[in-house]
Amino acid sequence: MTAPTATGTPVVVVDDVHAGYLPGVNILNGCSLVAEQGELIGIIGPNGAGKSTLLKAIFGQVNVRSGTVSLEGDDITGLRANKLVARGVGFIPQNNNVFPSLTIEENLQMGLYQRPSAYKERLEFVTGIFSELGKRLKQRAGSLSGGERQMVAMSRALMMDPKVLLLDEPSAGLSPVRQDEAFIRVSEINKAGVTCIMVEQNARRCLQICDRGYVLDQGRDAYTGTGRELLNDPKVTELYLGTLGT
Ligand SMILES: Nc1ncnc2c1ncn2[C@@H]1O[C@H](COP(=O)(O)OP(=O)(O)O)[C@@H](O)[C@H]1O
Ligand SMILES: [Mg+2]
Repeated sequence: MTAPTATGTPVVVVDDVHAGYLPGVNILNGCSLVAEQGELIGIIGPNGAGKSTLLKAIFGQVNVRSGTVSLEGDDITGLRANKLVARGVGFIPQNNNVFPSLTIEENLQMGLYQRPSAYKERLEFVTGIFSELGKRLKQRAGSLSGGERQMVAMSRALMMDPKVLLLDEPSAGLSPVRQDEAFIRVSEINKAGVTCIMVEQNARRCLQICDRGYVLDQGRDAYTGTGRELLNDPKVTELYLGTLGT
């Protein structure tokens, strides 16, 4: 499989978004981001910077008070999750991202509830990337390890054939080997043609695999550039990479 290169067509555009949970308190203070077709975008930054909130703002889970989010040129600001999923936005939250009492197969079916007729075709695509899941479809998700659950969560989101996948810390809580695997899987998903926007605590590893990165600090983009540029930027290293994820 060859990697599709970014064609310059914006898929997701976040333009000067201010957003927050409580009245009068903004967590995002003018945040902007562009993800072009085929890109893997990394979002890093200190704890509490608003990284998860940015993904929630794209996915209509937090009050956007000004600014816009658009998908392929259409304004999707504040649309509800079911509408966004139908339009091709997949979201994998950091926690509670599988249904533990359901089997792997049932989890995948939940991912496709809006288009059940496509099940067979999508299952083939997903088990092409996550072959080990295909052999264990009847196993309950609750009996899986953290790394395996993360794969089920990614698979479930991929069932809808998303245009863009939003991933919140896919490597969090995993052993070092499983963390590596999570990054490899995200790369594979991206190489299969899915535009990805990934938030990561493991900043160095994230910048190594992403096309472009954004450093978020206090709800604003502090730095942006290619993964390599950010890795080589002394300020970014000093302020945000430090001893993280060496
Ligand atoms: N549901 C919520 N209600 C109120 N405040 C929240 C909520 N979720 C997050 N916050 C606050 O928003 C800020 C940014 O959080 P978050 O986006 O989760 O940061 P990050 O993902 O970068 O660690 C934090 O100060 C956090 O306390
Ligand atoms: Mg977070």
